[in-house]
Amino acid sequence: MSAPADAVQRAEALRTQLHHHNYRYYVLDDPEITDAAYDRLFCELQELEARYPELRTPDSPTQRVGAEPGERFAEARHRVPMLSLGNARTDDDVRDFDRRIRKDLGAEAVAYVAEPKLDGLAVSLLYENGVLIRGATRGDGSVGEDVTAQVRTIGAVPLRLQGSDWPRLLEVRGEVYLPLAAFERLKQQMLDAGQTPFKNPRNAAAGSLRQLDPAVTATRPLTMFCYGFGAVEDGDLGPTQSAALAAFKEWGLRVSPESRVVTGADGCIDYHRVIGARRDTLDYEIDGVVFKVDDIAAQRQLGFRARDPVWAIAYKYPAREEQTVVRAVEFQVGRTGAVTPVARLEPVDVAGVTVSNATLHNIDEVHRKDVRAGDTVIVRRAGDVIPEVVSVVESLRPAGTEQVELPAQCPVCGSDVIRAEGESVARCSGGLTCAAQRKEALKHFASRRAMDIDGLGDKLIEQLVEQGLVHDPADLYALGVADYAGLERMAQKSAQNLVEALDRSRRTTLVRFIYALGIREVGEATAQALAAHFQDLGPLMAADLDTFIVDEPGVDGVGEKTATALLEWLEAHPHASPGDAPLADWLAGLGIRGLRPAAAARIAERWADLTSLRHAAVADFLGGKRSLVEGVGPIVAAHIVSFFNQTHNREVIAKLLDPDLGGISWETTTAAAAATSADAGTPLAGKTFVITGTLSRPRDAVKAQLEALGAKVTGSVSGKTDYLLAGADAGSKRAKAASLGVSILDEDDLAALTDGAYAPEHGHS
Ligand code: IVH
Repeated sequence: MSAPADAVQRAEALRTQLHHHNYRYYVLDDPEITDAAYDRLFCELQELEARYPELRTPDSPTQRVGAEPGERFAEARHRVPMLSLGNARTDDDVRDFDRRIRKDLGAEAVAYVAEPKLDGLAVSLLYENGVLIRGATRGDGSVGEDVTAQVRTIGAVPLRLQGSDWPRLLEVRGEVYLPLAAFERLKQQMLDAGQTPFKNPRNAAAGSLRQLDPAVTATRPLTMFCYGFGAVEDGDLGPTQSAALAAFKEWGLRVSPESRVVTGADGCIDYHRVIGARRDTLDYEIDGVVFKVDDIAAQRQLGFRARDPVWAIAYKYPAREEQTVVRAVEFQVGRTGAVTPVARLEPVDVAGVTVSNATLHNIDEVHRKDVRAGDTVIVRRAGDVIPEVVSVVESLRPAGTEQVELPAQCPVCGSDVIRAEGESVARCSGGLTCAAQRKEALKHFASRRAMDIDGLGDKLIEQLVEQGLVHDPADLYALGVADYAGLERMAQKSAQNLVEALDRSRRTTLVRFIYALGIREVGEATAQALAAHFQDLGPLMAADLDTFIVDEPGVDGVGEKTATALLEWLEAHPHASPGDAPLADWLAGLGIRGLRPAAAARIAERWADLTSLRHAAVADFLGGKRSLVEGVGPIVAAHIVSFFNQTHNREVIAKLLDPDLGGISWETTTAAAAATSADAGTPLAGKTFVITGTLSRPRDAVKAQLEALGAKVTGSVSGKTDYLLAGADAGSKRAKAASLGVSILDEDDLAALTDGAYAPEHGHS
């Protein structure tokens, strides 16, 4: 059966939309639509292609994964060889490089493109007529491995280039890498699955790309920065390297946002320093920065020496991995009692930071790596992550070392150490009788994002606990200037300041207070959700498991496919309405596949009107366990309930809130107002908002307030959106809202709508 014209058109439209959203998500990191909406478009295209296989083009977004695993990688010969780079290690090396170039070119000052040197693996993408036809690794520079099927799974790699002014044939060169956060996640997953994890992000990137089964590559969130080119035929990238990068961007290729044009050796050296200072905050590993002569004619003139271009050089940073000796393996007890092995090391400088401790995560990890006191080990420090022991250099192990065992008793309080079935973490069972857990709980309580008690540092807390002055957070508020002044390294003045800081911390917010309690797995976001849901501490403390998780009935006769089809139809028809007809009949008449009249009647019973049905999720039709508070599933709920069930915790809370003792309080007026207004059905109860543009206050604060007023805040505009709150410079979301007929409000409109319950920071016109 050949595809009818409307199917051909629809498939083309879907492909174009999916390419666009893919680009927004993977290249610009700025998605316009939700994952669910993307999935719906994707499924629609998949279904069309299944029905009419001739619609399945090689550049279709559905064809990223699909190739069968190969036996081995085929050879791929590069049209223009992939080169390596000479290294500079000092500022003087860079000055020499620049001097040679100025001399060869007879130029006064030379402009360079400067960019980070990513530590991933080099890949060449071959585009013919704008379509990706091959991906290859560097190999020996002349011949690499054909990893086309694997490269196609990388979201940041366009299957076809945007625009039309690309050369007919183009080899794009770049670095494929795994972001640090993704690497940490992958490592954890591999550990959980009992596999040996990759040692560093570069190995992880190489190991993930060089998988014979592209389906495995597809599960690894690889991405790519494009930085250069090989063959260019029938077309032109512009006169400079920077123009070529700008063209790459136009065509939808991902280019490093750190790329700059700098002038002379000084510009290069400055750039190296600036990026070096930010190295720890980047979400990827770099091992240096690269400078390339910007002018492409000058590049040609300068040419090559052996395998390295004369016109480019890498200025390296110190390595992130160093070798040192383990003095001892000790066990630390954290806030929630987790007993964590730590390697105490001979101090060693790792990329500018002295490292003397490294985490070993848990006892299984210690055994897997077989780390022992006396061992020589490789330690690695990346970004803000705690330094870790990568591996043991076994050939350097001295005689007489012993395997490390988990202690049976807590090294701090002597309580039993317990490791639950199937858990990797061992815990001290001492609870708050354990001084280590008390100290950590207090540190957390006082921390900036919790009660924000200025001047109550870790050292001070340790003294307070060790001297038996403070057992729980409420005790902090009972001590006076004289008590604090009696401590080591505390002057009268700092004691005075501390008491004042404690006093200031008494006025807080419900969110901070919940977070400060240090309930297991309750971070700031969950504390925020709990505060918005319960409005006050009393109801939260009284909650049981059923308060968090409900076992909901589904809708008989409606499965996932039908529910999805119905919700999609409603989303695609934001203005459709039953008019005077009964909702059940109207639904049954929509022609949704699988939706029988009896099921339509049950839907109409469950959702009294179309507006609430439009807000339903597929899960609502399927039934099952559902959590009522975002981020609180059964495990977190159990931690919360168990925390408030402990008499000790209830007593401490009572003391903290007692006006004559802790005296902690928070504003409940907005919360209370929201509770009543939600009951009264104000315009915000159950309404869905999207926020865009610049507002008078931080977006998080506005979001929290909208939620406190009963609204739901989501990320993208759809048929389910009730209002778009648009600040200054609102862009595509505003246009989309307008096209869908979604009401657009500014902050003053919102204040009017909520009768002043929402107030912008300062009036604006
Ligand atoms: S330019 C002729 N730019 O470093 C230009 N390379 O030692 C050759 N690399 O194999 C490469 N980031 O894998 C260039 N921004 C960047 C780079 C970069 C990482 C890698 C690349 C290459 C190696 C050269």
